Amino acid sequence: MREKLLVKTSGSLPGKTDMLVIFSADGNPLQNRGKTVFEQTGMNWKALTGAAEYKGQAGQHVEVLLPDNLAAKRLIVFGAGALDAKSAAGEKKALDFGTRTYWERLGGKLVALLERTPGEKATLIMDEKLFDSRAIAQMVAGMHLRHYRFDKYKTEKSGDNTASDERTRLAVTLRVKGKSGVDKRIDTAMAIVQGTILARNLVHEPPNVLGPEQFAHEAKALQDFGVKVEILDEEKLEKLGMGALLAVAKGSVRPARMAVMKWNGGGKSQQPVALVGKGVVFDTGGISIKPAGSMQDMKADMGGAAAVTGLMKAAALRKAKCNIVGVIGLVENMPDGEAYRPGDIITAMSGTTVEIVNTDAEGRLVLADLLWYAQQTFKPGVMINLATLTGAIMVALGQDYAGLFANDDRLASQLSAAGEVSGEKLWRMPMGVAYDRLIKSRFADIKNSGGRFGGAITAAQFLQKFVRDVPWAHLDIAGVGFASPASDTNRAWASGFGVAVLDQFLQDNYEKDNCET
Ligand code: BES
Ligand code: MN
Ligand code: ZN
Repeated sequence: MREKLLVKTSGSLPGKTDMLVIFSADGNPLQNRGKTVFEQTGMNWKALTGAAEYKGQAGQHVEVLLPDNLAAKRLIVFGAGALDAKSAAGEKKALDFGTRTYWERLGGKLVALLERTPGEKATLIMDEKLFDSRAIAQMVAGMHLRHYRFDKYKTEKSGDNTASDERTRLAVTLRVKGKSGVDKRIDTAMAIVQGTILARNLVHEPPNVLGPEQFAHEAKALQDFGVKVEILDEEKLEKLGMGALLAVAKGSVRPARMAVMKWNGGGKSQQPVALVGKGVVFDTGGISIKPAGSMQDMKADMGGAAAVTGLMKAAALRKAKCNIVGVIGLVENMPDGEAYRPGDIITAMSGTTVEIVNTDAEGRLVLADLLWYAQQTFKPGVMINLATLTGAIMVALGQDYAGLFANDDRLASQLSAAGEVSGEKLWRMPMGVAYDRLIKSRFADIKNSGGRFGGAITAAQFLQKFVRDVPWAHLDIAGVGFASPASDTNRAWASGFGVAVLDQFLQDNYEKDNCET
């Protein structure tokens, strides 16, 4: 496994370093601490930046080798982008200056540069005129998100790995003012990063390694952080009457599991937020088998469960001041002599009968029982499920927005707002009884697929049949969870989508009174 990126803060200027980084803003000259450091090199600012056509735009940089009588081997001048509103106007289009995602992306750009520059040690002069403690924490988060790689199964560390993968270690020291305040902010930001990285790791794990039991084991491990975790085996799921979830599991030799994770950081009387995740560890499609092309991607069909698990870790690490219950259903969808089949009629935990018309529409069956169980058992104030549910949502929205379906306008706008802030963007999709005719069954209460038209919407309509009187939202993350386009904050296949937006949603709507943000 690629070694850790080590980041620490320091109140004083550290000694020897390989890379000394100072920052300047777009259109603004060097100032304060950065200026002092630069003056020690004896170089001329105007001449240097002029020759390099450096203007301080976000991510732009100049690199200079220093003579060996100085404590640093090289100086990197790094652009922080537009500072004042006037120059921010142009920048806004590209990066949305000063927002959380802006600083995360800037941190991502910076760590990418440090990775490809010779040397291990970097010292960053974080001038307080340019960066407040929040900006610093968000940059540190972006650095870690960008540095992440999943290479634990590569025994050859060179081979087809890129040059930047060969870098094993990067030790970054941030020279800051007000170290303890900055450290506190970094801890909070890093809690979310740790949750996202857990989700990414779970999605990346191959399906032979991560079956339902192994995933349950990973969930159980959150106990170490103070999360209460209960694992339910098939016997218990049968007793509960989870006929829909268990039907999907029948074709696999690996038995189903459900994990219930609780974080109680809020008041005793506060109803919990219920988070429900689809955890299909591998989706072959079952008897309605999928074509072979890219079937390997279906190891990511547990991305919803991974996001819920990651969120629970993030909430525990930052000691979130709210009550959360995470419920994930872990199954494998396989074709087999024992497998469920098209034509079967199954009875969900709610009592609703479902005609199976396509065994590849399995996620909604798993969620049907989880949603029913979560609301009956925990009486949540709000319920949100995440699932790599439909290929149709990828056709509708591509890879940049997740689909948001909700029975409640307020919840939908709270989630959309959290999506904009966190950068995990959500686009609301329509729902309505008109779509119900597409999932009417000739023989049972409903059928499990409405066909091609409005495929993401009919899937949401199906889920809604298992939701009673609770504000509920469904996030279809099939397009955003994996095969992610390269970004400033992610170069890996899995994104860990869901952790950041859910965490932001909780902070904004359930913790505001108790928590300084
Ligand atoms: N896990 C898939 C959805 C999916 C497809 C996620 C591609 C990511 C990428 C889901 O279980 C599924 O197979 N859905 C079917 C539903 C159809 C049979 C009604 C789909 O989208 O084709
Ligand atoms: Mn499927
Ligand atoms: Zn699936």
